[in-house]
Amino acid sequence: MPRKPERPPKSPPRPNRWEGKEKPDWLSRALARAGAMPQKEAEAAIKAGRVSINGHVVKTHLSPVPPDAVLKVDGLPVRKVAPTLVLAFHKPAGVLSSTARQHRTGTVFEVLLPQLPTELASYTWHAVGRLDVDTTGLLLFTNDDKLVAHCTSPETLLPKRYVATVFSTADEERVAPLREGMPLDDGPARPAVVRVRDEHTVEVTLTEGRHHQVKRMLGAVGLPARALHREAVGEITVGDLPEGGFRLLTDAEVREKLHYTGRAPATAASPTAPETEDA
Ligand code: URA
Repeated sequence: MPRKPERPPKSPPRPNRWEGKEKPDWLSRALARAGAMPQKEAEAAIKAGRVSINGHVVKTHLSPVPPDAVLKVDGLPVRKVAPTLVLAFHKPAGVLSSTARQHRTGTVFEVLLPQLPTELASYTWHAVGRLDVDTTGLLLFTNDDKLVAHCTSPETLLPKRYVATVFSTADEERVAPLREGMPLDDGPARPAVVRVRDEHTVEVTLTEGRHHQVKRMLGAVGLPARALHREAVGEITVGDLPEGGFRLLTDAEVREKLHYTGRAPATAASPTAPETEDA
């Protein structure tokens, strides 16, 4: 029998030069995170030779930016620690809830971004979770990916309150399984807080957010949802925001109503306003 060729010995693992250190961002992303300009514009500015790192003009947008480096755009310093900013947006029905800004056609970004004033348009925005295309209500956006993780992780136990209009007739007996932690095909759901507002309106508060979770839970007890609206995330409510409208949350709201203390508050570290903010 022919012998199997011997495998070459495994090369030793490459040393991780960033171990124990903060990983550098790449240049265009660092500018976008800092709110100096959106990433696409940053790439163009870098190519045009308008950006320097520690006094050297750098024309490659993937160049690493060491944590203590001094970044300048058109000779003006950019403060690299961006404040945490959060927008409350009232999602209308019929628009897709994409988490990536790149896929913009028919998505919430297409509705939100054109409304943003210059000082907000220069940040890279992330949607905080998703809502189904036909679901309306509160969708948060932030420039801080740690806040996305905080709000969407089931570990955080941040409540999300939905109101469903249901076919069929809701009563206490019907909704009881939702309060007990019912089985779903992707594992048991946590016990939900449920209130029957009237026979066609059920309020469901969850601390997790699985695909179509509210609709699946209601469907399983014979109350298929005709419409779904998210009223609140944490203690932030959609309030009287008009459909398609947004507002910037205050630092206190982010801290006290989303229970997030991860990054610098907006008032403590606003970006050095580079005059190039023309997004
Ligand atoms: N649960 C759903 O079923 N749909 C949503 O959009 C959000 C939660």
